[in-house]
Amino acid sequence: MILPIYLYGHPVLKKVAVPITEEYPEIAILMDNMYDTMYNAKGVGLAAPQIGLSIRLFVVDTIQAMKKEEEDKGIKRVFINPVILNESGDEWVFEEGCLSIPAISGDVERKAKVMLRYLDTDFVEHTEEFDGFNARVIQHEYDHLEGKLFIEKLKPLKKKLIQGKLNKIKAGDVNAEYKVKLYRL
Ligand code: NI
Repeated sequence: MILPIYLYGHPVLKKVAVPITEEYPEIAILMDNMYDTMYNAKGVGLAAPQIGLSIRLFVVDTIQAMKKEEEDKGIKRVFINPVILNESGDEWVFEEGCLSIPAISGDVERKAKVMLRYLDTDFVEHTEEFDGFNARVIQHEYDHLEGKLFIEKLKPLKKKLIQGKLNKIKAGDVNAEYKVKLYRL
């Protein structure tokens, strides 16, 4: 089922999300719904706060964004209660966007590698290092669990330039090609 994506301005996006246990109700359905919602919006990642749930869970599918010959480098994964243990490598710039902030993108610097401890869909713990585009998407989604958005990492001038657009989103003046939820609605 496709769920509405909560947009910039909604307080759930500013909250630090809480861990979940195996007893969390209907988690299999939730994960299916998050994948459906992400694909429908043509995203490569979606964090639970973006569908209004302040819990530590996100889904990622970078396979769809890879060239055919590099598809094996992509990942399709659910990350539950992830913890970043370490970030390493050089900082690199990538133009990020976010389904909660339609039609805005900007260059964000992040470290190249991320060491992550997380639970899979069976609540089995893994510790794994990711790099490149996979690391980038994981870092972006992880920030959502900490109540942070990529726009906070933009250069001051860029922040100024997008302020008008952000105000419009907040005010509900927004056109997205997918179902959305505004704070005031
Ligand atoms: Ni995002």
